[in-house]
Amino acid sequence: MGRDFIVPGQMITGSGALTMAEEILRGFGKKALIITDKVMIQLGNAAHVEEALKNQGIEYVIYSEIVGEPTDKMIENGLSMYLKEKCDFLIALGGGSPIDSMKAIGALATNGGKIADYMGKVIKVPTPPMAAIPTTAGTGSEATQFTIITDTKKDIKMLLKGQVLMPALAIIDPQFTMTAPPKITAATGLDALTHAIEAFTSRKAQPLSDTFALSAVKRIFAYLPAAFREGTDLTAREQMSIASLEAGIAFNNASVTIVHGMSRPIGALFHIAHGLSNAMLLKECLGFVLDGAYDRFGELGRAVGVATDLDSDEAASWNFLKAVETICRELATPSFEEYGINKQEFMSVVEKMALDAMDSGSPQNSRKEVSKEDLEQIYRNLW
Ligand SMILES: [Fe+2]
Repeated sequence: MGRDFIVPGQMITGSGALTMAEEILRGFGKKALIITDKVMIQLGNAAHVEEALKNQGIEYVIYSEIVGEPTDKMIENGLSMYLKEKCDFLIALGGGSPIDSMKAIGALATNGGKIADYMGKVIKVPTPPMAAIPTTAGTGSEATQFTIITDTKKDIKMLLKGQVLMPALAIIDPQFTMTAPPKITAATGLDALTHAIEAFTSRKAQPLSDTFALSAVKRIFAYLPAAFREGTDLTAREQMSIASLEAGIAFNNASVTIVHGMSRPIGALFHIAHGLSNAMLLKECLGFVLDGAYDRFGELGRAVGVATDLDSDEAASWNFLKAVETICRELATPSFEEYGINKQEFMSVVEKMALDAMDSGSPQNSRKEVSKEDLEQIYRNLW
């Protein structure tokens, strides 16, 4: 069966990427809406983008109202600004939230309607040109055709998709990830690791996504601990920004599986940052699906050097799981209890979360068959 393999229109990686991108941005339009958050302005990151646009005589306005993970309201406000200011293209600067917001604003600018109208549908009308500048090495949103927006009325995270949501340009400049504090580096880095592992062990994996996933897993094991310990380590930051892009490309073309499926409901109900809730789920979720794909997990174990060809796939898989637990510990991942989640409250919504997770379709991409009851049990095992 033939398979699509979709990547951003153009990718520029490494130091100096933004400077290289300037002229391309000039071809995108006359006035940009820059979607970002207040922290990016305070850190001076937005000023770098403004300077690049000024160099090229491109007009712009800044929408910096993205706070935490994007909601339908933030999207509506951003869209109003885009229309009122007569912008003709979009630039996102930030972690996954500004980039996801850009996709949703871009989609509504040309497709019309409200964001909730597109849940469960494929967004088809091309957006205005979009450039993504990630400032964390993790979400991979710069390389995906997905966006996740919270429906504030229903308290659910809507997963919206369409090939047209893929940014035309991804600017992977490590200067922007240097400012991420250790907690963000850990959560986003483990999110990228989750993308790569899930892509590699998904039923929808394909040879090209395997190449990117495997490379990302190796790079993350090699460089994430250093980027966490020493934020100014340029090599570690550069390698992690490439790993995050690779992992994004991998899961965009192979889908995520059980961890992301179970993580979204936790994020929506308990407001834990996406990468962190993934990290908190990794051990239990992967432990459950491991025996459905010993060949795949075993290959990951060998790739990161915790098993050799002499080990059976089963033994190599368990070693890989241990290595994942170790890196989560090294990066100070808390348990739900340590994070301050109320156990009773959590237990009272286990059924709803399991149902929402199954509805997303992601857990079913795991090679092992999973049922709603299995997910309920995994949620309970977290305590
Ligand atoms: Fe993710």
